[in-house]
Amino acid sequence: DVRRMTVPQLLACKGHRKVVALTAHNVSTARILDDYVDFILIGDSTAMVAYGLPNTLSITLEQIAQHTAAVVRGTQRACVIADMPFGSYQESPAQAFRSAAYLLEHGADAIKLEGGSVMATTVEYLVSRGIPVLAHIGLMPQYVNTMGGYLAQGRTEESAKRVMDDAKALEAAGAFGIVLEGLAEAVAANISSAVSALTIGIGASVSCDGQILVTEDMLGLSGSRVPKFVKRYANLENEMRQAVERYADEVRSSKFPELQHCFAVKKD
Ligand code: KIV
Ligand code: NA
Repeated sequence: DVRRMTVPQLLACKGHRKVVALTAHNVSTARILDDYVDFILIGDSTAMVAYGLPNTLSITLEQIAQHTAAVVRGTQRACVIADMPFGSYQESPAQAFRSAAYLLEHGADAIKLEGGSVMATTVEYLVSRGIPVLAHIGLMPQYVNTMGGYLAQGRTEESAKRVMDDAKALEAAGAFGIVLEGLAEAVAANISSAVSALTIGIGASVSCDGQILVTEDMLGLSGSRVPKFVKRYANLENEMRQAVERYADEVRSSKFPELQHCFAVKKD
């Protein structure tokens, strides 16, 4: 009997072993990740890697819910965490609860939302009503329009202090974990030892309690332009190109299909 990793089990990893996470939005990827990772995030980065949108802002709650359901169907043991899309939680704690409940109804075990101290009230509201929250601070892609780009955070003393204060406010509000994205290495390391919440780094520090990457980025499926913090563990684009090219050649030269791929007429 396979049991799915729970949020308390994730949190219990802190100080004992690293937490491994990747993103997924479909069954075929989720099925593979399930054998290797502790949690799978249905990121709002799905907007970019699956839909070709220019940023994460315009993916909807309904889309994230459907991708979450697909990932749940493809997995048995990884904890499944769904990103709260832009516009689905910033208005009020009640709006956030309704959106988060919708994602849990589609099989998510927890939700993730962006924002520091400004989200503390919302985090407390959700956690006290049964919804585990993974927070996300540092570089927050949903703030691209107010930031005017994707800029690493914590690189000045003032910024470092703001992010540390955010982490402490989220911990106090009851977030079980905090994604630290695009954050000065030393600041991410300091936060990881200062809070009891699980820190999950992406462009942060090896001292974080765990790491996450966008799967398409680390597999080489998201084009040639990737952030500095991405490490390429495969070049699946090349492999896919070779396979598709061979298929196209074999169809054009009548090499495929062969008889072994065809059905014979039944004789009676
Ligand atoms: O949307 C996403 O994929 C994320 C992770 C990279 C943390 O938020
Ligand atoms: Na995200």
